[in-house]
Amino acid sequence: MSNNFHLTAPPMGWNSWNTFYDQVSEDLIRSTADAIVDKGLAKAGYEYVIMDDCWSQKTRDENGRLVPDPVKFPNGMKAVADYVHSRGLKLGIYSCCGLHTCAGYPGSFEHEFEDAKQFAEWGIDYLKYDNCYHPATLSSEMLYRRMNLALRSSGRDIVLAACQWGRDEVHQWIRSTGAQTFRSTIDIQDAWKSIEQIALSQLEKQQYGGAGCYNDMDILVVGMHGKGLNPETSIGGCNDTEYQTHFALWAMMNSPLIIGCDVRNMDDATRAILTNPDLIAINQDPECRSCHKLSTYGSPDAFILVKQLSGGDMAVGFFNFGDNNAHVELHFWDMGLPLASGYGLDFHNCLTGEELGVQRESFAQKVEPHGCRVYRCRLTEV
Ligand code: GLA
Repeated sequence: MSNNFHLTAPPMGWNSWNTFYDQVSEDLIRSTADAIVDKGLAKAGYEYVIMDDCWSQKTRDENGRLVPDPVKFPNGMKAVADYVHSRGLKLGIYSCCGLHTCAGYPGSFEHEFEDAKQFAEWGIDYLKYDNCYHPATLSSEMLYRRMNLALRSSGRDIVLAACQWGRDEVHQWIRSTGAQTFRSTIDIQDAWKSIEQIALSQLEKQQYGGAGCYNDMDILVVGMHGKGLNPETSIGGCNDTEYQTHFALWAMMNSPLIIGCDVRNMDDATRAILTNPDLIAINQDPECRSCHKLSTYGSPDAFILVKQLSGGDMAVGFFNFGDNNAHVELHFWDMGLPLASGYGLDFHNCLTGEELGVQRESFAQKVEPHGCRVYRCRLTEV
């Protein structure tokens, strides 16, 4: 019985859906696992290699079991799990709480306990569990409870990543189902508007995520640059400034960090964004506090996020969602730090690694359109 599974930080990994769509295969998973290790992503914290939809045959076998597509997975699923584990990584798979997955493959409805056992036998470590094609008479809340119990009785620690798209006020009940993460929005697209819309929709809901059950703002589009087989995701592409802002938002807002680009062929800028150690440390901070948002005087499209970190530091993010440069000004009293306290803040720039020294009372920066600045600040006597 595996019933003691607690994720101590938002999961980090890679998922096949954004770039490879229905073309998930053993070759892809092996070569991606190799790239995750060889290009330093594993060292940066990325751990789960997740197969999304379209990995199975279109029907179950005569015993009601799910069967990996023999062309895509000629050696079965255990061989894939063994390989991924041999590289020091974990393997994720995908199913759905309905009769079919969103792409029309068999779902786990009324097969929850046998599928969970099957996943455990294969050596699966993470299940992304979707929300398509379930009977209207049964709530997805009930169906996520079922899969939670199925996984916890499967004999293996398997993360339950609920993919419920933010429907039915999922943030209010998901924590009680036992799931470790919950998708809170519709599918992301490789476009600035999509990033902006997802981030804004979750700013007021951050307190529902956090330790033990993380708010999954969807797979990262960092580094896709409009490429990929998924016609719904790969629609335009962003520039590196926008990808940097996207990553900083997901990091500060405690989202799982699940890469969606082809890491085998990523460019240096993408690699640098995805492996930024200061942003990853903010995301993986053990206390996992939600941010609070501050407005900045005179720049309506810009805002500041402040996150208390363990050990006493604070993460401070300046974000400009506008199409013009913004003057972003942080007054320390808005964070609870009046001048009379005798303290200032020592600023470390998380994007450049620069030390900016101790600032008193306030700190201001110009931020380019769709850009950001992120600082790690230490309380310092002045
Ligand atoms: C839904 C999910 C996506 C992806 C697809 C697969 O749309 O939200 O993330 O898993 O299904 O069909």
